[in-house]
Amino acid sequence: MNHKTEHSTGIFAIGTLLATDDLVADEIVSQGLAVKGRQLGWVTAEGTLIEAYRMLCTTRVGDRVVWLLARGEVRSVDKFRDLLRTVDWNNALYAGGNVRVDVTGKVGWVKDTRFAGQLVMDAIRDQASLAERPRPEYESDQPDVRIAVRFGRGQVDIGVNLNRTPLNQRGYRAEGGEAPLRETLAQVMLARLKVDRKVPAIITDPCCGSGTILIEACMRLNQIAPQCHRSSDQLSKWTGLERISWTAITAEERTKERQCKTRFMGFDIDPDAVTRARANIERAGLSHLISVEVGEIKDFSPAQMNISETDQTWILANPPYGNRLGRDDDLVTLYRLLRDKCKAFANASLGLITSERTLVQALGLRSNKKWEMQAGGLRLNIARFELGLKSEQFNNEDNTIPPEEVLPLLNRLSKNLKNRSKLLKYNNINCYRVYDSELPEFNVVIDRFADYLHIQEYRPPKTVDPKSANHRRQLVRQWVPKHLGIPLKQAIYKERFRQSRKSQYEKRAEPLCIH
Ligand SMILES: C[S@@+](CC[C@H](N)C(=O)[O-])C[C@H]1O[C@@H](n2cnc3c(N)ncnc32)[C@H](O)[C@@H]1O
Repeated sequence: MNHKTEHSTGIFAIGTLLATDDLVADEIVSQGLAVKGRQLGWVTAEGTLIEAYRMLCTTRVGDRVVWLLARGEVRSVDKFRDLLRTVDWNNALYAGGNVRVDVTGKVGWVKDTRFAGQLVMDAIRDQASLAERPRPEYESDQPDVRIAVRFGRGQVDIGVNLNRTPLNQRGYRAEGGEAPLRETLAQVMLARLKVDRKVPAIITDPCCGSGTILIEACMRLNQIAPQCHRSSDQLSKWTGLERISWTAITAEERTKERQCKTRFMGFDIDPDAVTRARANIERAGLSHLISVEVGEIKDFSPAQMNISETDQTWILANPPYGNRLGRDDDLVTLYRLLRDKCKAFANASLGLITSERTLVQALGLRSNKKWEMQAGGLRLNIARFELGLKSEQFNNEDNTIPPEEVLPLLNRLSKNLKNRSKLLKYNNINCYRVYDSELPEFNVVIDRFADYLHIQEYRPPKTVDPKSANHRRQLVRQWVPKHLGIPLKQAIYKERFRQSRKSQYEKRAEPLCIH
């Protein structure tokens, strides 16, 4: 593949988070380029080297941009070596530069990605040695050049990673605090929610931490390219970089910035988080557009921000969640407090990102839309809710908020799932016991079989009032499937009780399954 002039076209790929390929494809199209192919987390496009660098400067969701040097169908180690030999490494890399190789994707014939990386280094070194150049060294922390290799569906892509540091590192976040949201993830959230479809009067984050959502939203609405502050030192030092002017590309993108009328305001209970957010906002050059104050969710209100009834408002939040901060019981209370505070906004939409679906459910709001994705080993949920008079925003509470009596059981289910989540995920297990009569007042056994629930109810002893036993049974039937995100019709119930010798073989008129 040619990289000899800035105008010769080639293929480049944008690496992205799983389940965000559609967003990257949209970004490519919005730059007037054609999408060549889409695979999980890897979108390819055709364009010039300048266009590839421009994508690097402007992509909000992409993690890296790779200029391809070779691609081909490869199904064995020997074929992979052959493909590596087709690359003119001496022409692409400077003599004496050090290299890092990032291998992603999987194929049966390369079990160990380190082995694939070693084959790349061998090919680079063989060519250098034939040309009597210094031996290129491997460097994982501060390489001059990152080489990317991606295996997928029988095809291998090999190229130069144009960025040396990941694109989520915009340069403004020196300190993230306890649980910072990845910048590219904040952009996935904003894109899914379509925050910029209509310019809102205000965007607010009631628990803004280091300010990521506000900064990324501000950059999006003001059309600020995420990498416009990236220095060329943060780009791979390969010969292709000489053929473009990074300064010219960033300068051109800066001319496209617009100042929108939206106000950006954030709050956090933690004064240190507020200090960090302010420092990050300043580094991003956005102090004149975003303000952040110490504030608690309990005080969150339209009056606090001078919002009128007609002001269209976006409330965006990444509230604390179990894996990073907080305890489960407190979190349910906090999410419900947030819901109650949001009720006061007359013309608002609420967008949440969290790793715990149960917490979103605890809000007791009907979401207009939900998205699920995988990032950093967590399953993330993004949800959008309409608030205020214009929509039937809040569900009938009786129908959506579990009563206090069933909460111990639901909390126990969440706890059990959380404790086992790693084991289940790494072993790809989708049939397992969720709950085994651990709480005396809920004498049930709950098993999950893929998308089905099997709930076995033990008949209570005669000492228990049948009316209250029946009430509890109804609570289990109503809330457990909902809590676990399983449709009611996919929950199967069995009643278990000790039978006398004769009765156990008698025919029953009705089957035991109740839908
Ligand atoms: C998951 S972090 C948010 C991270 C943020 N999105 C970022 O990128 O840095 C949750 C934040 O909620 C804040 N928080 C916890 N309880 C709060 C409350 N009652 N009121 C306001 N903020 C709260 C924490 O201090 C923390 O900064």
